Amino acid sequence: MNKRAESDVMQAGLEASAFWMPYTANRQFKKAPRLLARAEGMYYWTADGRQVLDGQAGLWCVNAGHCRPKIVAAVQKQAAEMDFAPTFQMGHPAAFEFADRLARIAPPGFSRVFFTNSGSESADTALKIALAYHRARGEGQRIRLIGRERGYHGVNFGGMSVGGIAANRKAFGPGVAGVDHIRHTHDLGKNSFSRGQPQHGAELADDLERLCALHDPSTIAAVIVEPVAGSAGVLVPPQGYLQRLRDICTKHGILLIFDEVITAFGRLGQPFGSQRLGVTPDLFTTAKGMTNGTVPMGAVFAKDSIYEAFMQGPEGIELFHGYTYSGHPLACAAGLGTLDTYEEEGLLTRAGSLEKRFEDGLHSLKGERHVIDVRNFGLMGAVELEPRAGKPGARAYEAFLKVFEAGVLVRWTGDVLAFSPPLIVEKAQIDRIFDTVRGALAAIS
Ligand SMILES: Cc1ncc(COP(=O)(O)O)c(C=O)c1O
Repeated sequence: MNKRAESDVMQAGLEASAFWMPYTANRQFKKAPRLLARAEGMYYWTADGRQVLDGQAGLWCVNAGHCRPKIVAAVQKQAAEMDFAPTFQMGHPAAFEFADRLARIAPPGFSRVFFTNSGSESADTALKIALAYHRARGEGQRIRLIGRERGYHGVNFGGMSVGGIAANRKAFGPGVAGVDHIRHTHDLGKNSFSRGQPQHGAELADDLERLCALHDPSTIAAVIVEPVAGSAGVLVPPQGYLQRLRDICTKHGILLIFDEVITAFGRLGQPFGSQRLGVTPDLFTTAKGMTNGTVPMGAVFAKDSIYEAFMQGPEGIELFHGYTYSGHPLACAAGLGTLDTYEEEGLLTRAGSLEKRFEDGLHSLKGERHVIDVRNFGLMGAVELEPRAGKPGARAYEAFLKVFEAGVLVRWTGDVLAFSPPLIVEKAQIDRIFDTVRGALAAIS
C-alpha cells in the first residue's frame, strides 16, 4: 500500500477509533485528522508524507530537535540491558547519575532532585513537599497553597486546584481545599506589544499581601507560579514582579515554587528560567525538555535546606511519596543522552543568540489583520488575535489550521498562537515560521 492509500485507510477508520484524545475536540479531529508519522531534527512528516516545520518543539518539549542520535542510542541500549528497576528501597545507577548531572547544572543550592513522570506530577509533588516540609519543621499549620489566575500546573488535583485557567477547572468540582489565587499579570491596556518583560505591573505581586492579610500568612505553605506562563498564551512577567513576589514570600516564611516545566532546559537562554530572570525560588518543577520529550519524565528540584529538613527526624522513610516509575531506567537513559546533546551543542544557552531575530520576526506581525498583541521572551512567543464575536478561540484555531496546511506546526491556545521552536532552530526557519503565520492571517476572516 502506498503512503497516500495507507493514510486514507487510517483516516477513514478514525471516526470509530477507541483513542479518547486528550485536550482535543475528538469528534472534530476524527473527521479531519492530522497525523504525524515521522520526525527528524526540526521537522515532522505527516502520514501522507508532507514535511512540517516544528514551531512548537513538539509540545514545548523537544528542545534538541527530533530523534537525536545520542538520545535514541541511549534509550535503545537501556531497553535491551534493563527495562525496569524499582526505586522504592532499591536503586539503579542511571537514576543516581542523572540526578547528580541535573544537580550540577542547577542553580547553586539546588542539589536534590525528586523524579516524577510528567509536569503534572512534578507540580503535585512540589506542593506536597512544601506541605510536608513545614510540618517537619513544626509549622504544620501552613496548609494553604496559593496559585495565580491563568496559571497552568498540569491536570492532577493539586495542579488543577492551584491552576487558574477556568476551562481546566470548571468540570471537576472544588479541587483541593485551602487554595487561593493571586491576580494574573496580563494587561493589554498597558503592556501590549511588549518586547521582553513588560514595563508595567510589578505591583501586581502585592496581591499576595492581600491574601496574606485575608488568611494570615502563617497558614500559607507555598505560592506556585510559572516564571513565564506558557499554556495561558505566553504571559511574560513584568519587570520587578517576580522579585517582589520573592520578597513577600521570604518576609512571611512562604515557600516560592517556580513551575519550570516549559522554561527549564534552555528555553529562556539559560539552563533554567530562574537564572535568566534573576530570581531564585525554593523549589522548582521540570519535565518536558528534561528528556527532550523522548521518554516521559519530570523532576522537582529542592533547595538543600528543604531536603535537610526532612533528614532531621528518626531514621526511616522521610517522605511518603513517589511513583512506580520515578527514575525509570529508560527515562534516565534518555535524560543522560539529552544532557550530553544539550551540552555538546551549547543548547542550554543558544536561545540567547537567536532571541533578537525571533523577537524581530514575531513583532513584524504587529499591524497584520486581527493581531491585538505580540509578546516574547527567550524563545517563547505569542500572537494574540481579536476573538470573533461570540466564538472565543475560533479565529486562532482557523489560523493554526492554515499555518499547518502551509507546512508549519505552531501551538493554538484560546485566541493565541504560541511559538517555541526547538533550540536548534536556524534563523531562516524562524523567518519561515512567522512568514507562514503572516500568510495565514491574511487568508482568514
Ligand atoms: C508549566 C506547566 N506545568 C505543568 C504542565 C503539565 O505537564 P504534563 O502535561 O507533562 O503533565 C505543563 C504542561 O504544559 C506546563 O506547561
